[in-house]
Amino acid sequence: MSQVRSIAVIGAGTMGSGIALTAATATAAGSRGGIKVFQIDVSAEQLQRARTYHEKTLKRNVEKSRMTQAQAEEAMALVSYHSDLAEAADADWAVEAVMEDIDLKKAVFGKMQATFRPDVVLATNTSSISITELAAAVGADAPRVVGMHFFNPVPVMKLVEVIKGRQTSEETTRRTIELAKLMGKSPVPANDRPGFVSNRVLMPLINEAFYAWAEGVAEPRHIDEIMTLGCNFPMGPLRLADYIGLDVCVMILNVMREGFGNDKYAPCPKLVELVEQGRLGDKSGSGVYEYPPRS
Ligand code: CAA
Repeated sequence: MSQVRSIAVIGAGTMGSGIALTAATATAAGSRGGIKVFQIDVSAEQLQRARTYHEKTLKRNVEKSRMTQAQAEEAMALVSYHSDLAEAADADWAVEAVMEDIDLKKAVFGKMQATFRPDVVLATNTSSISITELAAAVGADAPRVVGMHFFNPVPVMKLVEVIKGRQTSEETTRRTIELAKLMGKSPVPANDRPGFVSNRVLMPLINEAFYAWAEGVAEPRHIDEIMTLGCNFPMGPLRLADYIGLDVCVMILNVMREGFGNDKYAPCPKLVELVEQGRLGDKSGSGVYEYPPRS
């Protein structure tokens, strides 16, 4: 299989719905024909949320003259919504973006292996789970397992970190880079080490911002202002932590702490305390900052 004409995106949460939209939008009205997207989720509610997000974002893109009405309609027509993976069995590519839970992801990989043709790449959008460990769930099919690490918000962020597991084949990596480019992204390869490159560099920075707050160096908004105004960050590290999810930050830091056996990655107690209080960031309505309820 050389040309990818359809992809299955498993998981319709923030990342999965963003990946689905990006694939459809980037290829709608293209000369080679659009990529058909199967958006899969076990939850009908989640699928509906994804559909609403797709419609809203495409409408906004038309209003902002980023695309024509016809392109938006074509993009929307490329996406179909399913609760049963078997309905996507003909897809040429599979990428999962379910919750960051290794057992859940392993189970999903088992289903992907059983559902898709043997030439279909099995990709995971994970921020922290070892690709090599996930690949072990599919045994002899490990060479076609790869990390496709997208960034939130997926339609806006250019990067796809392409993570090569220990057994990922060169062919799989090459095809992943090709597909990411087709989706309008800038793929960059990295090896499968805890945190890969992005989170290995980003998370200690975020963690340090929590220490600066905890030690009273400055209050949160000043820490963020210093980093936005002084380092040109689009968001300060504490605002970004809320945006990512404080629980996700703790989880990634713990993966690096355990993976490297180095306490320098241990999450700041202030960060852990907020998570324990249920202050998870934007998604819970409060974190470092307070957020109005989502409509
Ligand atoms: N979906 C689609 N488009 C979106 C969007 C979304 N969820 N969120 C924002 N946008 C678009 C909007 O279209 C908007 O443009 P228009 O107003 O012209 O339509 C544009 O982005 C800018 O958005 P806003 O005006 O709302 O706000 P902003 O200028 O502050 O930008 C931001 C928002 C793009 C999120 C910017 O603040 C930013 O780049 N922040 C940093 C994000 C970042 O670092 N992400 C990576 C996190 S790490 C990660 O994801 C991986 C991991 O493993 C943890």
